Amino acid sequence: MKTAIVTGGAGSLGKAICKKLASDGFIVYMTDISEERCLDAIKEIHLENVRAKKLDVTEEADWISVYDDVMSEEGSVDVVVNNAGVNIRFDIEECSVENWDRMFQINVRSIFLSIKHALPIMKAQGGGSIINISSVCGLVGHRYTNESYTATKGAVTLLTKSVAARYGKFNIRCNSVHPSTVKTELVNNFLSDPERMKERVEEVPLGHLATPADVAAAVSFLASDEAAFINGVQLPVDGGTSCD
Ligand SMILES: NC(=O)c1ccc[n+]([C@@H]2O[C@H](COP(=O)([O-])OP(=O)(O)OC[C@H]3O[C@@H](n4cnc5c(N)ncnc54)[C@H](O)[C@@H]3O)[C@@H](O)[C@H]2O)c1
Repeated sequence: MKTAIVTGGAGSLGKAICKKLASDGFIVYMTDISEERCLDAIKEIHLENVRAKKLDVTEEADWISVYDDVMSEEGSVDVVVNNAGVNIRFDIEECSVENWDRMFQINVRSIFLSIKHALPIMKAQGGGSIINISSVCGLVGHRYTNESYTATKGAVTLLTKSVAARYGKFNIRCNSVHPSTVKTELVNNFLSDPERMKERVEEVPLGHLATPADVAAAVSFLASDEAAFINGVQLPVDGGTSCD
């Protein structure tokens, strides 16, 4: 069986991605800031073939340890989904240097560390698929989103393309997924003001928000052999939001 590691796996999108990859037949390593958080998520959505691991994506030692564990338990790392991410919501004029740096640590340094340690494994095993969760904000400047988030997601987009261009020769594919606002509990809370929710819905040509399952379906495709010749693509899951 093929293995997949998902970061931020206990979060709203992470759970849907883990569920979909498990149903696709992967042995899934759900990772997050604590093992308990993952175990609770696995129980909540009744997942089988999903294992829990603590992985703070900003810590290089955690990455090394998780890759070592997966290699000794399963013998391969076929797919890595870099999904963990945060938005510390400050407009640029109010954003402290500490918050700016924290955003880059969690959203970008994480993916640098992930890829740095995945590449030797994937080269040795003859290939692999790396999927980075960016955002519609990694494609365009977004009027409702702060600059630190947009800058980190833009960095993810070009980090993805660089790896795709330079490591494709090892049969390593690297692609990014770009959701618009996804209907999660987090967003329901954040957009509890009906006016703000209306703005977010109205910006989507399809007229409604994405669901976690929409995002998971895109990840599932990029992880699959059906996408064997897809490398370096930025796949929007945004109902057309980034088109104008
Ligand atoms: N929800 C949306 O509308 C939306 C839209 C576009 C892109 N995204 C992106 O999708 C990804 C998932 O977002 P979500 O909505 O599921 O958020 P979420 O807050 O529900 O989940 C994020 C997960 O990341 C984990 N996490 C945070 N810091 C971590 C760290 N240092 N190490 C390991 N894990 C850590 C959290 O514990 C949480 O489980 C993020 O990268 C986000 O930027 C989300």
